[in-house]
Formats: sequence, structure tokens, C-alpha cells
Amino acid sequence: MKTLVSLLLLGLSFVTSADCTFRFASYYGDHMVLQQQPARAVVWGYGEPGAELTVSLEPGLEPGLGPGSLTISKTAVTINDEGVWKLMLPAMGYGGPYHLVAQQFTTNTTTIYLKDILFGDVWLCSGQSNMEMTVSQMFNASEELKMASDYPYIRLFAASLEQSDVELQDLIKVDLQWSLPSAGTLGQGNFTYFSAVCWVFGRHLAHRLKYPIGLVESSYSGTPVEAWSSKTALKKCGLSNAADNSYSFNFFDMMVASSSMYSVLWNAMIHPLINMTIKGAIWYQGEQNTEINTDLYNCTFPTLISDWRRRFHEGSLGQTDPIFPFGFVQLSTYQKAKQKDNYPVIRWHQTADFGYTPNSKMPNTFMAVTMDLGDEKSPYGSVHPRDKGTVGYRLYLGARAIAYGEKEVQFQGPFPVRIDVYYEYLYMNITYDQKLLMTGTCDNMFEVYCSTDKGKSYKWVPVPASYLVISPKRVTISFDGCPDAQGVRYAWNDWPCEYKRCSLYSVQKKLPAPLFVKYFAT
Ligand SMILES: *[C@@H]1O[C@H](CO)[C@@H](O)[C@H](O)[C@H]1NC(C)=O
Ligand SMILES: *[C@@H]1O[C@H](CO)[C@@H](O)[C@H](O)[C@H]1NC(C)=O
Ligand SMILES: *[C@@H]1O[C@H](CO)[C@@H](O)[C@H](O)[C@H]1NC(C)=O
Ligand SMILES: *[C@@H]1O[C@H](CO)[C@@H](O)[C@H](O)[C@H]1NC(C)=O
Ligand SMILES: *[C@@H]1O[C@H](CO)[C@@H](O)[C@H](O)[C@H]1NC(C)=O
Ligand SMILES: *[C@@H]1O[C@H](CO)[C@@H](O)[C@H](O)[C@H]1NC(C)=O
Repeated sequence: MKTLVSLLLLGLSFVTSADCTFRFASYYGDHMVLQQQPARAVVWGYGEPGAELTVSLEPGLEPGLGPGSLTISKTAVTINDEGVWKLMLPAMGYGGPYHLVAQQFTTNTTTIYLKDILFGDVWLCSGQSNMEMTVSQMFNASEELKMASDYPYIRLFAASLEQSDVELQDLIKVDLQWSLPSAGTLGQGNFTYFSAVCWVFGRHLAHRLKYPIGLVESSYSGTPVEAWSSKTALKKCGLSNAADNSYSFNFFDMMVASSSMYSVLWNAMIHPLINMTIKGAIWYQGEQNTEINTDLYNCTFPTLISDWRRRFHEGSLGQTDPIFPFGFVQLSTYQKAKQKDNYPVIRWHQTADFGYTPNSKMPNTFMAVTMDLGDEKSPYGSVHPRDKGTVGYRLYLGARAIAYGEKEVQFQGPFPVRIDVYYEYLYMNITYDQKLLMTGTCDNMFEVYCSTDKGKSYKWVPVPASYLVISPKRVTISFDGCPDAQGVRYAWNDWPCEYKRCSLYSVQKKLPAPLFVKYFAT
């Protein structure tokens, strides 16, 4: 009996689109935020195939509570043969509350509605466990939870952790239906909901913009980028399912019996959302790819971004910007004692090997550098640093500059614009794009690629602070003892410095200089 019931439940969850009960799709609910102008919000749902349907947008919290019978818009469509309807609302300025009334006309008229709808900006938050880490797990959690009720115009939504071998039309399950922030909705169990990075990012935006912000979390611990990528995106990077079908992947602590981990989260947790109009996305992922396809991340990650952009643009009938702003967190730290190259390699690949973003391969992106936020004593493991406040704030600066056009907002740490090597005098000048603030020690954060056997072999040699001169926009490194120097790199370590004590920061916003590597052309 028990088995039968669970089988039935399992069955039901996969036939949602064949179920013609008149309703909105899973992620349209009371208290939601719909994307404001200039885009038009897309609304869709299910109903009787062939039936006529209207959707009206009306002011007021819910029917009967508006200022009379004003209707802002009324859109009529015919439900298609699959029992799906989809339409665009007019472009709306931010604000609310509104309610949305849908009526289906069969032999009887059926009415359903959503109440307390706001217009504002909708941001999608995705990635692995560092995105999943909840507000209750971060430093200063109690202050954040206390602040929650000051932001009734931020609305939260969290998709359930699900996987699928095929692209699903709708979410299988929802962990948190659209809700107002509260200690309860923000502070669930460890790695459940709501995401601390997503919340802090949204809280800063709401505070600055003074209008509603919708936050949609869809993240899953321990997952590689391949799971979040469509088959088309993976193919562009030379990855095909056939090569991977014996692979069983360890999602956090749950073994997945799926034939392949490729695309399973794209299919179940992102593809269902593409019909929703969104402002942009933020992403915190990459730790898992320090073990899987590390060298391909400079392809898989930029390709994921362009693929998501194309699919959201299409799904929303052209309403989501085809190059919507995409912010991401450059990996933090993992192991202090056993320094390996894979963390810096992923950090570098996260920028498509440019070192900074946006760049020509990653337009309209912004990056929060976090390699200086290591937290060795995190009770969640050192791979899960608790300072999510700084992460969310640094992302917010990027959003202001890239997504909201505040060009003067500093969101990038210093980065070299040129490197001049003077072999005859055995020193190099690294010129940065902005003034440098020296914070921590400069011992060993720079390394020079040296040969001690007249160019037969090379190795990276750390530069002691006594070999460095830092002037306002320049680092001068002398390399006597290394006359054949062939390259220079900065912060190329899993754990490059103590908490907020890397060598170089920006003066104004104290943003860390990102890592870089440069080989000299000779
Ligand atoms: C229409 O409504 C009547 C009365 O509520 C009900 O008996 C009938 O089953 C309904 N028909 C349909 C097609 O839903
Ligand atoms: C925690 O809050 C205090 C006081 O508001 C602040 O000074 C400190 O920087 C915060 N710490 C972190 C890690 O966010
Ligand atoms: C998006 O809308 C279309 C109708 O245009 C519908 O068929 C589809 O199920 C919706 N969902 C997804 C994920 O495409
Ligand atoms: C979350 O993890 C911390 C640290 O391991 C633990 O103290 C706490 O009890 C956990 N909370 C829940 C709700 O499981
Ligand atoms: C990506 O990085 C690898 C080394 O890790 C390199 O061989 C390859 O050329 C890079 N690909 C792109 C597209 O930049
Ligand atoms: C290199 O930088 C130092 C310090 O700013 C400066 O004194 C020196 O003139 C520079 N060298 C060249 C060739 O520009």
C-alpha cells in the first residue's frame, strides 16, 4: 500500500503538464514579484485545451480590495492543444500591490487569482553549496534575521532540489513559495533556504533602489557546471553524454543513480523557469569543477552564461534581455595547508582566462572576488566560508555598475594594464588600472617564472617583499638571480592570504586585486 501511494505520487509529479486543471505554473504565486518595465512580465499556466482565457491585472491586494473596478489590462488567449496558456502583461512601472485574475471559459466560467503582486526586478540565484548556504549559517546571522522584517518588498522563492534526464516544462516541487522575508523564511536548516548570498545581494539592491526585488533561488550543493548546462551548451565544449554514461555523481551526500549527471539540473531546476521574465542572475559555483573537467571550465562557464541568456530570452517571448546581467562569485578558498593549483585555475577560468570581467567573451558580467575571505574554522567545512555579507555586497557593487548603469561605481579590484620587463636591469614594472592600497604582507604573493639552468626548465619562485616596490599604480619586481624570467603571477594559491589581508586592494571600496598569470612573449 505504502509503495503504491509513493509510486502514484511520483507518477503525478511527472505528468503536471498533462494535467489540465486550470492553474498558474508552479512559480506564479501570491506575493510574487513580476519583472517591471521596460520588459513585460510573462505569465503562463495550464487549462482545458482549446478553451478561451482572460487574464486581468487589477490594482489592490486582492479582488474586492482595489480602488473600485479599474482594470489595468485584460489579455485574452486560447489555451493550446497541450493545455498550456502563456501571455505577456503590459510593461509596468515598479510598485503594487496588484492582483491577477485569470478566467477560463468552458461550459462554466472558472476564476482563479493571485494576490499581493508587486512589480520590480527579479533576480535568479543559482550555483552549488556556497549559494545554498542559508542566512542562519552566515556570520552576523542574528542581525540579518532581525533585519528581515524591514524589507517587506523583497519576496523570496526557492525551487526544490530535483534532477531530470529530460528538459522539464515546470518545476517538480517548490521548497519555498513566494514569501516575505522573516526569520522563518530566511533561516531554515543548514543548506536549505534561503540563500545568504542571494539575500544580502537583494537586500542591498532593495535598499538602494527602493522598489520591490524578487529573489528566485535554484541551487544544489556539490554540483558541477555540467549538471547546470544544457546538452547544446555541453556539446559546444566537446562534452557529450555518450562519453559519460558510466559516471555516477555524488551530489552532496546523495548518490545519484542517473545515467549521467550532464544537464540534470538544467533540465529540472532552470529550464522550467525560462518563461519567466527576469532582470538578471547571480551564480556561485565552481568548487566541484576543481575535480571534474577543470581545464574545460574556461569554455563550460562562459557557454553556460550565453546559453542561459538565449534560452531565457526565447522562453520569455523576447522580454528577458538577450544579454541579461550575469554576476558571479570568483571562488573563495578551501585548503590552507595543502595548497593546490586547481582553485586558482578555476578562478582564472571563471573569467575565460582574462582575469577580470566583463570582457569580450563575457559581456555584461560582473565578478565578486572572494579569495581573501577564507574561514578555516567554519563549522560547515573550510570550503564554506561564513562571511557571506562581504560576498553579497561585492556582487551588489557589480550589479550597480553593470545592471543599473552606475558607471562610476567601483566594483573591480586593481588589475594590470601592462607589464614591462627590463632584462638588462633585471626588473619589471607592472602597471595597474587604478591606485593600489597595500593591505597585507606582500611576501610571496607575487611569483616569477624562473629558470636556474639557462632556460632548460622553469618553476614558479615566490618573490619576497624586499624585492618589491609598490608605488601608487605600479608594482616593481626585481628578479636578479632569475635572469631568464619568463612570467609573473599574483595570488596563484588556493588560500592566498589571511582574512581580508591580501597584498593589493582598491583604494575606494577595498576590493581585492584578482589573481593573474602572464607569460612573457620572447
Ligand atoms: C458546471 O457547474 C455545474 C454546477 O456547479 C456543475 O454541476 C458541472 O459539473 C460543471 N461543469 C463543468 C464542465 O465543469
Ligand atoms: C558583523 O556585524 C558587525 C556590526 O554590525 C560588523 O562590524 C562586522 O563587520 C560584521 N561582520 C561580518 C563578517 O559581516
Ligand atoms: C513555456 O511556454 C510554452 C508556451 O509558449 C509552454 O509550452 C512551455 O511549457 C512553457 N515552459 C517551458 C519551460 O518552456
Ligand atoms: C547547522 O550546523 C551547525 C554547525 O555544524 C550546527 O551547530 C547546527 O545545529 C546545524 N543546524 C541545524 C538546523 O541542523
Ligand atoms: C582553456 O584552458 C586550457 C588550459 O587549462 C587551455 O588549454 C585552453 O586553450 C583554454 N581554452 C580556451 C577556450 O580558452
Ligand atoms: C619602473 O617603475 C619605477 C617605480 O614607479 C620607476 O621609478 C621607473 O622609472 C620605471 N621604469 C621605467 C623604465 O619606466
